[in-house]
Amino acid sequence: MEKKNSSPLCYKKGKLHFDNIPLSTIAGKVKTPFYLYSEKTLVENFNYFLDSANSAQINRPLICFALKANPNLKLLKSLAKAGAGADIVSGGELKRALDAGVKASKIVFSGVGKTQEEIIKGIKAGIYSFNVESIEELELINIEAKKLKKRARVAFRLNPKVHAKTHKHISTGFKTHKFGILKSDILKAVKNKKLWTHTDLVGLSMHIGSQLTCLKATRKAVKELGTLAIEVNRPLDFLDVGGGLGVDYGPEEKKKFSTPFQYMDLISKQLKTSFYKKYAFENDTRIVFEPGRVIAARAGAFITKVVRTKKSEDCFFAIVDGGMNDFVRTSLYGAYHEIYTEKKGSGKKIKTDIVGPICETADCFGTGRSLPKLKSGDLISVADVGAYGFSMASHYNMRELPKEIIVKKSGSFS
Ligand code: LLP
Repeated sequence: MEKKNSSPLCYKKGKLHFDNIPLSTIAGKVKTPFYLYSEKTLVENFNYFLDSANSAQINRPLICFALKANPNLKLLKSLAKAGAGADIVSGGELKRALDAGVKASKIVFSGVGKTQEEIIKGIKAGIYSFNVESIEELELINIEAKKLKKRARVAFRLNPKVHAKTHKHISTGFKTHKFGILKSDILKAVKNKKLWTHTDLVGLSMHIGSQLTCLKATRKAVKELGTLAIEVNRPLDFLDVGGGLGVDYGPEEKKKFSTPFQYMDLISKQLKTSFYKKYAFENDTRIVFEPGRVIAARAGAFITKVVRTKKSEDCFFAIVDGGMNDFVRTSLYGAYHEIYTEKKGSGKKIKTDIVGPICETADCFGTGRSLPKLKSGDLISVADVGAYGFSMASHYNMRELPKEIIVKKSGSFS
């Protein structure tokens, strides 16, 4: 169970391959820049996550893939076939999940700003749970369910007041963050009969942040969730521990990376003591997960071509045809992603800044990277972009959205 998910990128005879296909073959048929996905890696990662849960004796795990990481329809169809549910945050994602064949009974709806229209769609579809993030939201769900003469399944999203050690933009579990509801407010709401005329409390949820490599805050939050579940004192179908497990993008993360099995083991042990041992009802509450990154990141590469190079005193720039509008993580969060040239090259390496065409200095995929000397027309691959890559792309600078190419399990690509 210590196997790490591996990248579809590798060198063979000095040439970069993706899922065993020479990158130059694919790039010969598709205009750069484009995203390249490995269906095989994606599904393997999903199965590995699920197997890790089972090995750690997590009770009836339900893995709801977070669509925001990668909502590509074909990839979602593969995940749905493998048994994935979906974690959604908008009406658009609800439609996409259903179109991909995800069963409504495996869809959880998170998010602080669900609109009336989105709530109605969720109730009509019969989703597994609205993970509610405010009492006002619960009131609205109750009203809309009444109008539709239905009952809506809801879970409270707990704000466990923990500091997840990650980039401050994607930490979500402290009381100053807009997410979730404080324990004291949840306990009050559980007793307020007016809120439950057309809703059923079926679970509790949490999500404390993304790209988590240190799991201290996760342990604390899971403990809070288990304790709350005991205090709520109601039979619960599920506890949803959210997503957030990080991947090792570069040298920094490699030092402190936790594997899916370590993550599952920690959750399993924590829930055993703080929840299952003290639970007064039938001990069959299932555990829901909402992973995005850990399933999809490795499965994608961003392929871009050098337009020209430029030297400014001791700086060497490779200006590529992909920009921050196509892939924004490096610009927005200062994130590190490995960069591979198409030819491995055996000669002297040059410290290179890989920059895009957008009129912002932040438009940069990596600085000071030791790479073989690049020239116009050379291909570059930015690795591990299958999560929060295309899903965050924009038309900034009136640029076209990049294409998405999938290498199927059969080895063909389209
Ligand atoms: N569940 C909820 C309620 C979430 O808000 C998120 C991510 C997830 C699950 C999935 O988290 P994951 O397993 O992927 O870490 N754009 C940022 C990441 C934003 C994450 C937002 N919420 C990035 O590129 O790093």
